[in-house]
Amino acid sequence: MEPTVIDNEAPQDALPDEAAAVAYVICSMSDIPSQRARGFELMQVAEDGSEQPFKIVVVRWGRQVFGYINRCPHDQVQLDWERNQFLDPNGIRLMCGKHGALFELGTGVCLEGPCKGKSLIPVALTVLDNDICVTGVTLAEEADDDEEEITSCSDEGGGV
Ligand code: FES
Repeated sequence: MEPTVIDNEAPQDALPDEAAAVAYVICSMSDIPSQRARGFELMQVAEDGSEQPFKIVVVRWGRQVFGYINRCPHDQVQLDWERNQFLDPNGIRLMCGKHGALFELGTGVCLEGPCKGKSLIPVALTVLDNDICVTGVTLAEEADDDEEEITSCSDEGGGV
């Protein structure tokens, strides 16, 4: 099956710098069951070279994956007040655990709650050889305390 490209706003060769062409493997597809979400606490390298937390949530729905910054747009807090509890009781929306705002899985748009109409910030993901990869950012080559080592690989253009 073709790799699934989530952020296809621009062709790969139109991205602004070479960092954007690197895909960082964060986990295997099989690490996130379908219709589930999981958080990752990564570190991003900023333009000035400093490292900053890059906390994201990844939703898997079959072969599709969706990534967002793990931050509610109305109060700037993490969505999962209980670790890795990102979905509403019906399992069909992302939910902020603080005030219960509900976000559409595929778009990140808030459908209900204090930030209705606002959106989660999307994170570009791609799937390469069954690995879920973050693209479009430069990540520090280190893992957080409970994640596997993050590796980067050159994107060979397969489906991107
Ligand atoms: S912080 Fe998420 S809805 Fe209030």
